[in-house]
Order: sequence, then C-alpha cells, then structure tokens
Amino acid sequence: MTTTRTTSPFDFSSTAADVISGIDLRGRRALVTGAASGIGVETARALASAGAETLIAARDLAAAERVAADIRTSTGSQAVTVALLDLLDRASIDRLVEDYSGPLHILINNAGVRAVPELRLSPEGHELQFATNHLGHFRLALGLLPALRAAGGARVASVSSRAHLNSPVIFDDIDFAHRAYDPSLAYAQSKTANVLFAVAAARRWADAGIEVNALHPGAIADSNLARHYDPAVLEDLRTSGRYTFKTLAQGAATSVYVATSPLLDGVVGRYFENCQETDPDDPTAAGTDAAGVARYALDPDSADQLWTVSEHMNS
Ligand SMILES: NC(=O)c1ccc[n+]([C@@H]2O[C@H](COP(=O)([O-])OP(=O)(O)OC[C@H]3O[C@@H](n4cnc5c(N)ncnc54)[C@H](OP(=O)(O)O)[C@@H]3O)[C@@H](O)[C@H]2O)c1
Repeated sequence: MTTTRTTSPFDFSSTAADVISGIDLRGRRALVTGAASGIGVETARALASAGAETLIAARDLAAAERVAADIRTSTGSQAVTVALLDLLDRASIDRLVEDYSGPLHILINNAGVRAVPELRLSPEGHELQFATNHLGHFRLALGLLPALRAAGGARVASVSSRAHLNSPVIFDDIDFAHRAYDPSLAYAQSKTANVLFAVAAARRWADAGIEVNALHPGAIADSNLARHYDPAVLEDLRTSGRYTFKTLAQGAATSVYVATSPLLDGVVGRYFENCQETDPDDPTAAGTDAAGVARYALDPDSADQLWTVSEHMNS
C-alpha cells in the first residue's frame, strides 16, 4: 500500500476523455450509479469509450436507456446496459445485487441528491440525503463485494463533494430527530459519510485487492443536482464568482481518474479533487477552486464508527 501523496499530470480543466486516454478497459466491467443524468453520464461514456462493459444503474429506466443509446452511438461500444436501482428501496438494491453475476472491476458510487428542502425520511426512517447518498451505496457496495473480490483487482470511487467541509457526521443525531433540519447540513453530513466510507472500506478490502477512494468532482452547473434550489439562489451561485464551474466532461474526470488511473495502483482511502490528491494540511494543493478535505472526513475512528452505525441502520 502506497503511503506517500500522489500527484498526477491532470488538473481542473482535464476532461474524462483526457484522463482515460491510453487506458484499455477491454475485459473490465464497470457499474456507475445515477448515470442517467449529469456527471454520471460522462463518467459512463469515458469508461465505455475505453472498452469497459458499462452498466448504468438508475431509477429512471427510460432516461437510462436514452443515455445508454447515446453512449453506444458516441463510443461505438455496444456493451452499455442499464439496470434499475433506487437507492432508497432496499429491495431494488438487493435485486440488482442478486441479478449481477461475474466480476465487477469498477464501481462508481455517483448517484446523489442535494438540498432536499423539507426533512424527508427513507422507508426505514433515515434522513433522505444520508439514506440515498450514503446508506444506499453502502448496501450496494457490500452486496457487490463478492463481485468486486472476484475481479482480482477492483476500484471503487465514492463521489463526495467539497460540501462535506460544512459538517462532520453527527453520530448523535444523523436523522435530525433532535436538531432543526438544515438541507445543506444534511447534504454535507452525507458527503462526509461518502469520504469516511472510502476510508473504512479501503482498510477492510485492500487485502482483497479492492482499492477505494473518495473524490469531489468540482462545481458543475449543468446537472440535475440543483433541482431543489430556488432558481434565484441558483442564479446567484452561478454568477457570484464563488465557484469556477466545470463542464460535465471535466466533472467526470476525477471519478474516472480514481477508477482507472495506473498512477493510483495501491493508493486507498484518500480524497481527490481536480484529479489530484489533497489532504487536510494543504487544502488548496489541488489547484483551481480546490477546497481540500476535512480532517474529520479522513479520521479512521470515525470511519469505523460510521461502518458500525451503517451496518446497524441497514439491518
Ligand atoms: N454538480 C455538482 O456541482 C456537484 C458537486 C459536488 C458533488 N457532486 C456529486 O456528484 C454526483 C452526481 O451529481 P450530478 O451533479 O451529476 O447530479 P444529477 O444530474 O442530479 O445526478 C445524480 C443522479 O443521482 C440519481 N439519484 C438520486 N436519488 C437516487 C436514488 N434514490 N436512487 C438512484 N439514483 C438516484 C439521480 O436520478 P433521478 O434523476 O432519478 O433523481 C441522478 O441521475 C452526486 O453524488 C453529487 O453529490 C456534484
């Protein structure tokens, strides 16, 4: 396992096509969640373009079929398929897992929901953003573990966000039962969980050759993620100058980098943005619009605690 900090030739402006250039994924199988829109589409397109059998897992099957057809046309690869996945529906996750056979070389936990305005709960009573962004992916990844093991060398990319900097996981009240609901804090907590998941899974699964890392894709205005935003707030965000926005193809680059780059062989439990590793002591090391990673998101004890809590919440 590598312990030194990695660097890459890629940066803020790199696209998924830049990152995948020269990488041959023929004979590899990939699954991207939430790839019926936004960043996931360009992530799946890049993987398919390199020859990976690519499974788009989404809850809107019609949209997923349209995306798959578009990717087949643009890449010339026919090995792009779709599967139903609703991360809020345990039966749906379990069905996908049951139906999946053979090895899985690349899992990209990309699906996500942001800033749900009112407190909403999953069928099991967990706050919706945490349930979707973290718990659903936790169940999926554990279910697919035999397939990841069978790959004899797999990568898992956990798509987090710089928004994780706004909140650790509040273990005493993950579901906002005793504190006022705040959509941004709920999203931030779920995105910290995405990083902690990578830290914990990396430690548990490295011996099986499964390399797990987390990433921030960048700020991307062209996806559906802002659907819950007040249009005026969204316009303010777009024009405030607080963010330098990426295209969708640039937004997919860090996921693709984490999932495929040979430069990351043996690198696990880290956080990336702009295709660069970053750490709490050097928040802006990753260049343009980089914000770094919170110490609490990489904390191994918190990662273990989240794992135990997630097993309990998922049982
Ligand atoms: N855009 C940004 O600026 C930004 C910044 C930082 C991090 N991210 C992260 O990047 C990832 C991709 O986001 P995006 O910007 O591409 O937004 P997006 O276009 O909304 O993509 C998110 C996808 O997740 C799916 N999803 C939501 N709830 C689901 C559920 N219960 N089961 C299955 N799929 C579900 C959505 O499907 P439906 O259409 O069916 O809801 C959608 O296709 C997310 O994890 C997000 O947190 C984005």
